[in-house]
Amino acid sequence: MKHLIDKLRREQDLSAEEFRMLLTERSKETDLYAREQADQVRQQVYGNEIYVRGLIEFTNYCKNDCYYCGIRRSNRNAQRYRLTEEDILVCCREGYELGFRTFVLQGGEDGYYTDEKLVSLIRGIKEIYPDCALTLSIGEKSEESYRAYREAGADRYLLRHETACEEHYRKLHPAEMSGENRRNCLRILKKLGYQTGAGFMVGSPFQTVDDLVEDFLFLKELDPEMVGIGPFIAHQDTPFHDRESGTLEDTLFYLALLRLMLPNVLLPATTALGTIHPKGRELGVRSGANVVMPNLSPVSVRKKYMLYDGKICTGDEAAECRYCLSRRMEAIGCQIVTDRGDYRTVHR
Ligand code: SAM
Ligand code: FES
Repeated sequence: MKHLIDKLRREQDLSAEEFRMLLTERSKETDLYAREQADQVRQQVYGNEIYVRGLIEFTNYCKNDCYYCGIRRSNRNAQRYRLTEEDILVCCREGYELGFRTFVLQGGEDGYYTDEKLVSLIRGIKEIYPDCALTLSIGEKSEESYRAYREAGADRYLLRHETACEEHYRKLHPAEMSGENRRNCLRILKKLGYQTGAGFMVGSPFQTVDDLVEDFLFLKELDPEMVGIGPFIAHQDTPFHDRESGTLEDTLFYLALLRLMLPNVLLPATTALGTIHPKGRELGVRSGANVVMPNLSPVSVRKKYMLYDGKICTGDEAAECRYCLSRRMEAIGCQIVTDRGDYRTVHR
């Protein structure tokens, strides 16, 4: 299998059949080899610099009912909250002082935040922090809405495609949602000039090797600036409450393949990865990831943005998370930098 990993590094592309072989005929040895190669590519492109994003989870109301998600609309046990514009600006101020130069506004699909409110919020943040990048992660919207946010100053958009296979998509979502619409949103976001992030959960229920092959091929074709992948973790109040989590080994291997396939991609070592293993994020970085996304949300609401059971860092102040991550990154020879951390097209 090493020859396929070498080929992926060299040509940044594989056929469906080659991806299928890589994914089925893995061994401990080839996994480690892929991760080492990916670690080298990360260093070639981004040096020892790790980018940091301040994640502000500003609403857990959602009109959608994704079967895996702890804040889905049918979860009557979720205590719902919304942050005001003022609350959000306080998070930004704290984040700025801690050296964050990217803020990520993430939330459920919450109709309370009309385009008018969102545009005013985006303008407000960009006016106070013109040197910061603003990322949105607020789900599927119309082209007009995406355009309005972009014109207001939003720089990036995260919208995981979740799975590139329509049949698999239907097993994870109710009938009113469609994977095709989601993938179309991603194409629109790219067209509008957002740095765009797609991605999927590792080990989501019913995921097959063929689904993963489709995921890799879809990501190659979309050529996103960011890819978010992390293990699926069950939430007790969802239809998937008794499902197994995605594994550390699979997540690290897929992170490595993504770094080799899309060498410049902005690739986070996610909180979910840190949740399934105490050193998950460090191992993620050593397998090709170059971004961490600590939480900037007020501690009072953290436990309410529970997408899955056992989520880490829900009791810590932003500053604690920031310094904890700095220490963790330094321990593996990396350094968190005060930088917008834009997509890089030129190798150093
Ligand atoms: N509403 C926005 C959207 O749909 O993109 C952003 C919020 S949504 C909660 C962010 C991501 O969380 C999803 O794209 C999904 O991949 C991930 N997620 C949801 N439930 C999860 C679970 N049980 N385990 C791991 N990741 C999960
Ligand atoms: Fe909407 Fe999870 S179902 S954010």
